[in-house]
Amino acid sequence: MVFFSFLACAPGERDSGAAPYVPRHNECLPEGEAMSEATCRAVVEEDGRLPTHGGNKSGTEPDPVDPRLSDPEFLWMTAEVRRCTCSCCHTESWGGPGVYYWNLEFAPVWTDSASSWTLSVFAGLTGEANQTLPTDDLERLQAWVEAEGIRREAR
Ligand code: HEC
Repeated sequence: MVFFSFLACAPGERDSGAAPYVPRHNECLPEGEAMSEATCRAVVEEDGRLPTHGGNKSGTEPDPVDPRLSDPEFLWMTAEVRRCTCSCCHTESWGGPGVYYWNLEFAPVWTDSASSWTLSVFAGLTGEANQTLPTDDLERLQAWVEAEGIRREAR
């Protein structure tokens, strides 16, 4: 992975020559921060599984100007994901092996790349701890996922 080696030595990253920092599966940065591309590529590299690709699994079409994109709850949740290692394997342009299930780059609304089942796993409603977002406010996340389920059924 030539591209990756270049990124690992980019200015601002940890000491050039040193192995890139690979955060744990359930690790999150403080609020307001986001996992960097170099860190995420190291996560994907270490995982070793092949990149995947997905599509719209929501069963609905987005509106031309989808109101979810300006919903503060959606924006909060997206920021919560971006600060955790989860985002690394679920971002298509970084080669994420989990993109088939949900893809942070799926446009216009990334959560449409996830089935309703996947969203319930993500929000800890199925007891799959390793695939639950390590947010400090799980109830807030669950409320969003439940509302999204209702929205999907109504369309
Ligand atoms: C090292 C790569 C990697 C990381 C990090 C990662 N995932 Fe995934 N994720 C995958 C892959 C690959 C799949 C699909 C295959 C599988 O289930 O392992 C997946 C699938 C999922 C699913 C779909 C489950 C379903 O049954 O529909 C959810 C939800 C999920 N991940 C959430 C998370 C959350 C939350 C985190 C952070 C705590 C996370 N993932 C971190 C690679 C990763």
